[in-house]
Amino acid sequence: MTSGIRTVVFPVAGLGTRFLPATKAVPKEMLAVVDKPLIQYAVEEAVAAGAEKLVFVTGRTKNAIENHFDMAFELETELAARGKDDLLAQVEAIVPEHVSCLYVRQRKALGLGHAVLCARALVDDDYFGVILADDLIHNPASPALGQLAAVAAEREASVVSVQEVSREKTRHYGVVDTGGAEGPVQPVRGLVEKPDPADAPSNLAVVGRYVLSSRIFELLAETPPDHRGEIQLTDAMAALLEHQSMVTCRFEGKHFDAGNKLGFLQATVELGLEHAEIGPDFAAWLAQRKPARES
Ligand code: UTP
Repeated sequence: MTSGIRTVVFPVAGLGTRFLPATKAVPKEMLAVVDKPLIQYAVEEAVAAGAEKLVFVTGRTKNAIENHFDMAFELETELAARGKDDLLAQVEAIVPEHVSCLYVRQRKALGLGHAVLCARALVDDDYFGVILADDLIHNPASPALGQLAAVAAEREASVVSVQEVSREKTRHYGVVDTGGAEGPVQPVRGLVEKPDPADAPSNLAVVGRYVLSSRIFELLAETPPDHRGEIQLTDAMAALLEHQSMVTCRFEGKHFDAGNKLGFLQATVELGLEHAEIGPDFAAWLAQRKPARES
């Protein structure tokens, strides 16, 4: 396997119910943290890992995503006419020239596994990346998917990103079984989706970054829906373990679960504080801000 990941799949067809009504007409991946939508952070991470083909699995609100990564002729003409060269450069650089964007529709939100399966016809590499943009991982020096790609190339295996969570929280995540082994990269023995904490095989929770063997597609096609009618990626990955190896990657970086309101606000504060333009003013404002009950 060569290092670097050429194709990355972005499932963006979820219903985003935890963010309603904000997500009524736009996908949650278009919600902006400071000045960029979540999906743009994800695309930048993929391009930094070497991706040249970006496959978006879209749902009912697909136009917003397509428009964001398309040329905005009127806007760009207007910015040029007003001499706003910096902004024009930022808008033009959203997708580099050598990168292509492809779109496929998931007609019904039948789960993450089903969304990945929808990308099958557009993926022709042996290994491809998957990024869930609502899991924002901040590490400008070493973007997370690049870390996974390096592990995949070294181990010639599929890779799943994990982080430690409290045992109580395992019920909200896919959880990996490493047979008790710790350390940044460990062979995966099993995976379970949202286990009861008493049954969880570890406290290593799956975070939304994967490098997957294309063999996953035939396994996804055979994976039955769960009790909620959704096809789970975790189930197909567990089946993949019977044929090929898979390892964990405990990535370095700050992870925010931006698919819920609290995580989204935490990401906004952290990235706001680091923002070149507004960071210092925001920090000063936060420092002098009195809690409501004291004012
Ligand atoms: P979530 O589990 O966060 O579900 O999906 P959701 O529907 O987006 O959000 P809530 O729970 O209703 O608030 C995890 C990822 O999988 C994608 C989502 O877009 C998100 O990136 N997804 C999920 C799909 O693309 N299709 C699906 O059918 C389900």
